[in-house]
Amino acid sequence: MDLLPKTSEEFTKEEYWNEFFRKRKEVPFEWYGEYLELAELLHKYITVKDKLLVVGCGNSKLGPELFRFGITNQTNIDISPVVINQMKQSYPDVEFRIADVCNLEFEDSTFSAVLDKGTFDALCPAPTKSSNSTDSSVEEGHSSDLMLREISRVVGSRGRLLCVSLLQPHVASRLLSHFYSLGWMIRVHRCLDAETKTEERNTENTFVFPVFMIVFTKISLPGGMKPLLEASSMTNNKFTRFDNLDELLLYIKEQQNFAIRNRMVIWFHRRPCPAGLSSWIYSFGGSAFNEGSEIP
Ligand SMILES: C[S@@+](CC[C@H](N)C(=O)[O-])C[C@H]1O[C@@H](n2cnc3c(N)ncnc32)[C@H](O)[C@@H]1O
Repeated sequence: MDLLPKTSEEFTKEEYWNEFFRKRKEVPFEWYGEYLELAELLHKYITVKDKLLVVGCGNSKLGPELFRFGITNQTNIDISPVVINQMKQSYPDVEFRIADVCNLEFEDSTFSAVLDKGTFDALCPAPTKSSNSTDSSVEEGHSSDLMLREISRVVGSRGRLLCVSLLQPHVASRLLSHFYSLGWMIRVHRCLDAETKTEERNTENTFVFPVFMIVFTKISLPGGMKPLLEASSMTNNKFTRFDNLDELLLYIKEQQNFAIRNRMVIWFHRRPCPAGLSSWIYSFGGSAFNEGSEIP
């Protein structure tokens, strides 16, 4: 079933998503990972006391599963009436509403937590051939800017946005710069469990990219103080702190390069190595092997 759009701009269109969910019917499609693989982080940052907004919920089970575990004060929104009607039928106890995340009807500071999995990634404009990969200059009023503006508005003081994202360079710079400029605390987690399980389910042999959960906390900083920037270690509960946003963005890029390089080696495992590929992988730091041979 071909569900991919011709241009990334189509991801911002209601008609595209209606067609997407009509074609998939009731078959769930979880972007980047399922509830169980993200549960540890989700429950670290969302508790039963929270009033939660799930933006661009699609037919993800994240909201309903959180509901099952006590986070009942929640609203799930999506621009597609097709998917909202499907979800209302499947989960009559959970609140689902047709709404545009770029133009929310909620009062300021209505929610203590907002959850996004894949929606900002979809709305963020991909760089064109003429722009560079982190280019964040798009026309004023673009959906990705409006989405961030609306989320910043409806989250109350000390509230959080949890964003599950691939953090491609154009997404990372746009998303993190927005909240950094507002003084929100930023904490980046890697979702290794989601990556591993996605790899295991990967029957179509597509490339699995690193997945991140970024937790943005709305804090009013005294004048002149810089927002706290942290990334969690993948091996223990410690955090690395960064002096400025460029350092954090560089850290994310290094994580991605390392993971992508390692996966590429696994991906080509036991296939004949195409001419020229070994030196290419080697340039990413992978181990060398002979062209035309099986990769060990
Ligand atoms: C990449 S999918 C992610 C779906 C779901 N969060 C998941 O993890 O499986 C993006 C979702 O955002 C929705 N969407 C796109 N534009 C939107 C908008 N302006 N307001 C609300 N939802 C939107 C789409 O209908 C789609 O369900």
